[in-house]
Amino acid sequence: MNSHKQIHILAIESSCDDTSAAVLRGTTLLSSVIASQEIHSQWGGVVPELASRAHQQNIVPTVDAALRQADISLSSIDAIAFTRGPGLLGSLLVGTSFAKGLSIARHIPLIEVNHLQGHILSHFVDLPDTAKEHPSFPFLCLLVSGGHTQIVLVTSPSDFQIIGTTIDDAAGEAFDKCAKVIGLPYPGGPHVDRLAASGDPTAFKFAKPRIPGFDFSFSGLKTSFLYTLQKLPSEPKKEDVCASLQKTITDILMDKLVKAARHFGITDIAIAGGVAANSGLRNAVAAEGQRHGRRTFIPELKFTTDNAAMIGIAGYYKYLNGEFAPLDLPPTARM
Ligand code: KG4
Ligand code: ZN
Repeated sequence: MNSHKQIHILAIESSCDDTSAAVLRGTTLLSSVIASQEIHSQWGGVVPELASRAHQQNIVPTVDAALRQADISLSSIDAIAFTRGPGLLGSLLVGTSFAKGLSIARHIPLIEVNHLQGHILSHFVDLPDTAKEHPSFPFLCLLVSGGHTQIVLVTSPSDFQIIGTTIDDAAGEAFDKCAKVIGLPYPGGPHVDRLAASGDPTAFKFAKPRIPGFDFSFSGLKTSFLYTLQKLPSEPKKEDVCASLQKTITDILMDKLVKAARHFGITDIAIAGGVAANSGLRNAVAAEGQRHGRRTFIPELKFTTDNAAMIGIAGYYKYLNGEFAPLDLPPTARM
């Protein structure tokens, strides 16, 4: 332990359809509260206007609950970290405006956080009284969510180099769009995962892209998925379709991740983002680690989907660097 004062960060995340707040003491998570928005499932996707309205309803009770669960008052908070983007602008505005209001009212400095960097740094969030290994720098992170698919070379908590990205759909989108074709509810990723457990992953062959370098493409898979199912003489077993789809997406992701790890001579590999909850991908990453002596970092399920703990840890590292945000900083949908 050092003799420095412990830094307390209040973090706010509102980039998509979950309103979330967390409190960290240093790198240790004291509380994390997530208000999920059920309203969107009936529309088959996130409706931006409904999302921002729900954020407005949820933000005060969510922040309040996070402070109470951490058993801490606002006067002990050293900085407020908020998600500046990327995400839905209306949703980001709610969290950003709330953070600014609180900052003015209580004279607490602000820290802006890039949502994607938050996903990556979620690997550094510690839980109270629990020893946890962190990735060593430099490490590679496969960031897979509903909106992004990237391989990021992380050389420090503030240095992120995107070395591969999708040229069309994100991995989560591929799961969700294919799931929709076979009548699964939105978001389809978790349903595909569940059904895949009792299916045959070799039942169907879907097209894999041939993209040079470390970039990804998923639009061809979607077309091949549709085409294959249309040609079938009878209704296929959903479990087999899901298992084959999950295997294909996992293979596409692992191919490039392993290629990048070899190219850069990296031993530590991590995954992050909503699709990092997928059991096929988690197993494949763990197996790759065992086969080739790599250290692998697979997040706990609660840190895969959007949460404020990851915004808090990113905010903590920025606090240490003295990187504060001005009050007139606008949220941004793309970063
Ligand atoms: O990171 P996230 O919560 O939100 C974004 O920032 O996009 O990711 C949501 C995505 C959705 O596409 C969802 O279908 C996918 O993550 N997802 C999964 C699983 N759990 C969530 N995809 C496959 N298998 C899962 N178990
Ligand atoms: Zn996310």
